Amino acid sequence: MGPYPKTVRLKSGTEVIIRPLEKDDLEDLRSFYLDLPEEDRFYLRADVTDRAVVAMQMEDSDAEERTRFVAVLGNRIVGQAALLRSRHGWLQHTSELRCVIGHDYQHQGLAKIMLRELFQEATRQGVEIVFGKLAAEQTAAMRVLKGLGFKKAIVRRDHQRTLHGDLHDVVVLTCSISDAWARLEDLMHAMDDQGREFPSPRRGAS
Ligand SMILES: CC(C)(COP(=O)(O)OP(=O)(O)OC[C@H]1O[C@@H](n2cnc3c(N)ncnc32)[C@H](O)[C@@H]1OP(=O)(O)O)[C@@H](O)C(=O)NCCC(=O)NCCS
Repeated sequence: MGPYPKTVRLKSGTEVIIRPLEKDDLEDLRSFYLDLPEEDRFYLRADVTDRAVVAMQMEDSDAEERTRFVAVLGNRIVGQAALLRSRHGWLQHTSELRCVIGHDYQHQGLAKIMLRELFQEATRQGVEIVFGKLAAEQTAAMRVLKGLGFKKAIVRRDHQRTLHGDLHDVVVLTCSISDAWARLEDLMHAMDDQGREFPSPRRGAS
């Protein structure tokens, strides 16, 4: 994994630290989830208000198949992103991306910054195809992925049952890592103009 922690600057000028999730982040990660407004939590796949669910995430972040990053401001987690990879069989060249940004830190480019970290790690691991699985109603996340060149690959009808028990379609969007990275890099250059120089992930990968 690349050199962490990394300091990055958001569009507002606020600096946050990006680093891998660590064992003793459990309570901070849980507080992060509890602070999310219900509309942001609604479509997440598990009930992240449940301490046992968050504890399970912490445990599986030790597994080779999971790479999880957090964005930290002071001692608060303000964003988290994960790369979920299948190490065996047909799917080992693919990885799923997940990202959640705290409500007060959205629209500041933090998802793009965290996706850049995931792409860097995915490339290091030899991943060729990245995908996201979203409820059809997750329009912000859909915009982020489509902006990076992801295309709708499958719609699974009624595939998600929310915590309230109702059914929603799940959309799988995919992209080759090289295309997504090229698009992201172009977007990051636009951000560079705001201040700090962001090193290119492709140049940074070895
Ligand atoms: C989706 C999410 C991760 C975006 O995070 P973010 O840090 O606000 O995103 P960024 O600031 O990096 O924005 C990236 C681009 O996405 C688009 N975008 C982001 N939020 C948007 C919104 N609410 N509506 C429309 N477009 C949006 C914009 O094109 C934006 O680029 P721009 O600011 O240069 O125009 C965040 O809204 C979130 O955590 N939502 C709840 C959880 C979720 O749905 N996660 C995804 C499933 S794993």
